[in-house]
Amino acid sequence: MLPEISAEERDSYVFRLYEQLLEMEQRLIPIGLHVFGEVDQSDAAGMLQAIAAFDRPEIGVRSLPGLIAEGLGPREREELEALVREAIELFVADGLVPDHAAEFLARTANVAEQESRKVFALLGRVADGLSRNQEVDALIRALRGEYIEPGPGADIVQNPEILPTGRNTHAVNPYSIPSLGAIRKGEAVVAALLRRSLAERGRYPETIGMVLWGMDNIKTQGEGVAQALLLMGVEPRRDALNRVTDVNVIPLERLGRPRIDLVLTVSGIFRDLFGTSVEVLDKAARRVAALDEPDELNFIRKHVRHEQLAGASFEDSATRVFSNAPGNYGTNVNFMVSDGQWQRAEEIGDLFIKRKCFAFGRGLDGSRSRELMEQALSRVDLTYQNIDSAEVGITDVDHYFEYLGGMTQAVEVRSGRRPDVYLSDTLLAEPRIRSLSEMVRLETRTKTLNPKWYEGMLKHGFSGVAEIEHHVTNTFGWSATTGAVDEWIYDEIAGRYILDSAMLQRLRSINPYATRSLAARLIEANGRGFWAPDAEVMDQLHGVLGGLEDQIEHAGTGANQ
Ligand code: BEZ
Ligand code: MG
Repeated sequence: MLPEISAEERDSYVFRLYEQLLEMEQRLIPIGLHVFGEVDQSDAAGMLQAIAAFDRPEIGVRSLPGLIAEGLGPREREELEALVREAIELFVADGLVPDHAAEFLARTANVAEQESRKVFALLGRVADGLSRNQEVDALIRALRGEYIEPGPGADIVQNPEILPTGRNTHAVNPYSIPSLGAIRKGEAVVAALLRRSLAERGRYPETIGMVLWGMDNIKTQGEGVAQALLLMGVEPRRDALNRVTDVNVIPLERLGRPRIDLVLTVSGIFRDLFGTSVEVLDKAARRVAALDEPDELNFIRKHVRHEQLAGASFEDSATRVFSNAPGNYGTNVNFMVSDGQWQRAEEIGDLFIKRKCFAFGRGLDGSRSRELMEQALSRVDLTYQNIDSAEVGITDVDHYFEYLGGMTQAVEVRSGRRPDVYLSDTLLAEPRIRSLSEMVRLETRTKTLNPKWYEGMLKHGFSGVAEIEHHVTNTFGWSATTGAVDEWIYDEIAGRYILDSAMLQRLRSINPYATRSLAARLIEANGRGFWAPDAEVMDQLHGVLGGLEDQIEHAGTGANQ
């Protein structure tokens, strides 16, 4: 029998369900793989809609949902988005001529034509850029030693100027980050992260373990760096050459909350590209640690003083930036997990620390500092990473679980409890904070279990099946490092790909090797205690695995030919 709930509880439940369905429906997902030299127009209107959702003050363009909301007054999000969608479809159907679309928005939503025409001008440039692909031509010109014009590297929604592709991608001036836009967005993300954590734990997290990557900070002009500085309650200071080389402390009255302590795990790529940001982050931690402020409003000072009382030096106890040894990259946690080279989960966190315990900043140049890192991780309440792209999510590549997962596992052993794990989503006009479990569910539903996603992959044949298998292994990576994967996810994956005989037949005829790995991974998930299906399901999985092994063995000896 269903539990008795009040009408309000029911309404609130239905509303949250509705919001979640809407979120999944509207989420941009990559369909299939990029084919070098080919144009992908599978969801051009969806892409334009995502791009139109942002204010872009740098080019004087407002967001379409914002303009419509202003014209109509408060409205349901769904209604605003339906109008945006209709206007964009009109614009596309008219061959990128804005007249009807602008008239439509003026008539139905009181949007001034001069404002909407600016948005359509941007969308027209994007649509034009999407329809051209000069990658093959540019490659051939490059091989001939000819000049290839440069273009920025970024996510298309964040910065549509990346189009057309096939240019010589450049990064950013490391002294310029974080940009003003990154700081503006960082403020909203940090506020949302702290609000969420406060709501769930009833107090601010004292220490956040944060991952910073190089590519991401290129793509977003330093959103991750901006967030780290803001968490500590400082803002970047620019010198006479407009270079960010120092910080200003935000006074507590303006900050309105405690300064949060951090442990920053930066990738090898970040360390190499953003040496100047490493110095600034390190300087910020030391500056904040030395402020004369009460412990309850300055967690960095609180922790540093605590360690000093126990005999540590100020310099050691204020070390907050860790990366690989110079010349080294990655945590290797991904290889340990996918190769099954571990018995106890602690081994994963140990490997993470072994690889990432090199301290940077104040001229340290990566000296091995294992004890300092372990001490810092033992205080972490919450681990966190920023997600900035619709193209690469937490189950698309093994790097999210190797970093955020690896750090989380290392914290769990050293602090004695599993930290809360959050990811932000700065792809949306209003940044969202999600727990890791919520993000795994969202990725699973919109990608791994979504027919639109896997049929898109299967069109690519052999590589497509391998991609499906990678998603399953990356999901498994979250179980191994954090335990954040619900069992129903494995039930559904098994049901969709292995226990459905028509699908199994398709997969094994296209790529029996990846199909074998997928079945073996599910069996491993059971063996490691991440999933406990009925014995009958396990029998079926073992039967399928045996059949695939025979198939592959016979193909190998030529018996099938
Ligand atoms: C980075 O951009 O820093 C990065 C890229 C891939 C894996 C890990 C880090
Ligand atoms: Mg890989």
